[in-house]
Amino acid sequence: MKTGEVLVELNDICEYFSVGKKKLKALDGINLVIHSGEVLGIVGESGCGKSTLGRVISRIYHPTKGQVVYKGMVSNVPRREEKEHRLTEKQKKEYCKNVQVIFQDPYSSLNPRHTTRKSIIRGMEVHNLYPGHQEERMKELLQMVGLPESAADRYPHEFSGGQRQRICIARALSIEPELLICDEPISALDVSIQSQIVNLLISLKERLGLTMVFISHDLSVVKYICDRVVVMYLGTVMEVADSQELYRNPLHFYTKALLSAVPIADPEVEKKRHRILLNGDIPSPVDAPKGCTFCSRCPYADALCEKERPALKEVSPGHLVSCHHLDRIEKEETKEGAYVTV
Ligand SMILES: Nc1ncnc2c1ncn2[C@@H]1O[C@H](COP(=O)(O)OP(=O)(O)OP(=O)(O)O)[C@@H](O)[C@H]1O
Ligand SMILES: [Mg+2]
Repeated sequence: MKTGEVLVELNDICEYFSVGKKKLKALDGINLVIHSGEVLGIVGESGCGKSTLGRVISRIYHPTKGQVVYKGMVSNVPRREEKEHRLTEKQKKEYCKNVQVIFQDPYSSLNPRHTTRKSIIRGMEVHNLYPGHQEERMKELLQMVGLPESAADRYPHEFSGGQRQRICIARALSIEPELLICDEPISALDVSIQSQIVNLLISLKERLGLTMVFISHDLSVVKYICDRVVVMYLGTVMEVADSQELYRNPLHFYTKALLSAVPIADPEVEKKRHRILLNGDIPSPVDAPKGCTFCSRCPYADALCEKERPALKEVSPGHLVSCHHLDRIEKEETKEGAYVTV
């Protein structure tokens, strides 16, 4: 597949969980594409559905509604619809090989009773890769992620957090995925180790031609690593744009607010800039607003926003926004001329 072609398509993905008698809408109508070779960032406040989205893409969860299409083939649908789409066990296994996930907490995602060797080789055995050469391949992977060969015989508790995340990366790469979903891969790590892991991911992505979904609430890291960024709020997509464009020209009021909270290293700029403080808390996804999910916190919201969910519209090439009142926001927010982002 050529770089830039559509690798994954998410069509109207909904994920509802039952909470007592009510429905918790963790994802509510997500439409997105992931292009081959890109790093797609997913940002948003805690609880907005980032991890759930990663889990639906990787088939850890079935969606309640909607479809995940991978290279033109339907690959994840609600369980009850699987038969209808004639997804075979072989296709499912192939898909799981092609889409791997790296989780936030490397300790809980490694089996404490497995040595690094066993953790890494197991996937190769399941997918029958490198028969007769798995030991060599394991050593090559250890080298690739910057671990010594002696790491092979050690157990997870004998490593530091950063080293454990390197093992998880080696394990994910051992079965040669095409898409790597990194769910907050650095949040549990010490600040000094975070940049090492980010740089490792970038270099591996370049070297292996991977496509990456990078889930994070650290907007500075997302700016550094991602080609495109998706801003989520309460299970819906608010804005999608190329990374440069999003940080230079955020259009949704929620994106503006998020970016205005990112610290800037220059004290002069920091002093002058306009911080947006949102009113109230993020509502519970059990009682999410019916119309625009952001309407309870948006100063521009009116009756239309409460009633009707705005469509995700392309306002300039590749820049999509879901808002009824973009014109008004633009007029008001640029008036002072003091709005500065990162
Ligand atoms: N298995 C589950 N059962 C019930 N509710 C769930 C389940 N998984 C997630 N949720 C709920 O779905 C919503 C979205 O959760 P999710 O973990 O996707 O958020 P997130 O954006 O990854 O948050 P964070 O930044 O804190 O990791 C939350 O309200 C969460 O409580
Ligand atoms: Mg999460």
